[in-house]
Amino acid sequence: MIVQANPGAAFRAAEAPLLDAVRRVLESGWYILGETVAEFENRFAAWNGVAHGVGCASGTDAIELMLRALGAKPGRVVFTVSHTAVATVAAVERAGATAWLVDVDEASLTMSPASLRAAVAECRSARPDLQPWVVLPVHLYGQPADMDALAVVAKENGLELLEDCAQSHGARYKGRRTGAIGRAAAFSLYPTKNLGAFGDGGIVLTNDAELAEAMRVLRQYGWKERYISAVPGINSRLDPLQAAMLLVRLEELEADNAARRRLAALYDRELASQPWDRDRLLRVCAPTGAVEHVYHQYVIRTPLRDALRGFLETRGIGTAVHYPVPVHRQPAYSDGRRVPVTGGALPVTERVAAEVLSLPMYAQLTEDEVREVCAALRLWGEGAL
Ligand SMILES: Cc1ncc(COP(=O)(O)O)c(C=O)c1O
Repeated sequence: MIVQANPGAAFRAAEAPLLDAVRRVLESGWYILGETVAEFENRFAAWNGVAHGVGCASGTDAIELMLRALGAKPGRVVFTVSHTAVATVAAVERAGATAWLVDVDEASLTMSPASLRAAVAECRSARPDLQPWVVLPVHLYGQPADMDALAVVAKENGLELLEDCAQSHGARYKGRRTGAIGRAAAFSLYPTKNLGAFGDGGIVLTNDAELAEAMRVLRQYGWKERYISAVPGINSRLDPLQAAMLLVRLEELEADNAARRRLAALYDRELASQPWDRDRLLRVCAPTGAVEHVYHQYVIRTPLRDALRGFLETRGIGTAVHYPVPVHRQPAYSDGRRVPVTGGALPVTERVAAEVLSLPMYAQLTEDEVREVCAALRLWGEGAL
């Protein structure tokens, strides 16, 4: 069986240092925040070239904290995409703001600057009860969104530009690391991410010292001083056991991303020589623009997605769909008024959701396994032609 993602392989690749790291925390007697968490925050921020890191309990919380610290309140609109993990939208709502869903670009599958412009205009004209406030693009699958084009629309409209980096640890846009571009950036440290914990975790990066301090206060009951809440806060702290293991994994992140990129290049080469590629039966979601993609996922598109998935399953090859139902089509978010949808529909998002398929991808996957996946794809392609 070739699995689609494999956090257990990340453990086995660094078993001894991970267990040592856990032991050191257990022996320290300090189990909430403290030095290990601070060390991870500082090291991860520095790795990204950003001044401050604020660890928290999940990527969802990281988005919530970032928005709350910036002043989220009812009526303030966060423009984001529907082609994302539902967490992006759930976090906006939990912060008390309104998520407004924008379409993605057909080539990059990240936020379309044209759709964003239309969304802001529509918000201004059709919803006087709402105020455009933040743009929150998602660097989906490890590929940075077109930040310069989005920044132009944000600036024209006086909006803050943030980043959802849950899938883009280490990716670069025009030479800059994602996470170092917007005013603040939220990362998930979920086990399958490029930098994954062995449980939940998240972190926000920002160069804004005041914003970082506001997030530190919010993540722990609004305390500036122990037991005295200066503002209403939450409990969302990065666990020191996770921070200790993340420090071990951070040492390998550059090499792990390089391994993902090598595997992706092999997929590209193998798939380019397939007979059905030119017939549009199956296409690769290739990087667009001056980006360094870190392949959190290696994604292909085919109108016969579900049949292909079933075929690969019978050959012992695991796949995943990120994501099968766009957020605006999910029962919790489909009323159209609480979570407005640009132009009432997101045609690219809907088309993409029906076609995308994530092939096996993780740093420890072998080249032979990639070849085996591609051989199975060839077999299927020949049969489907
Ligand atoms: C794009 C995106 N945003 C946010 C999240 C939320 O992260 P977490 O699962 O750590 O809460 C995830 C991960 O699931 C994600 O992929």
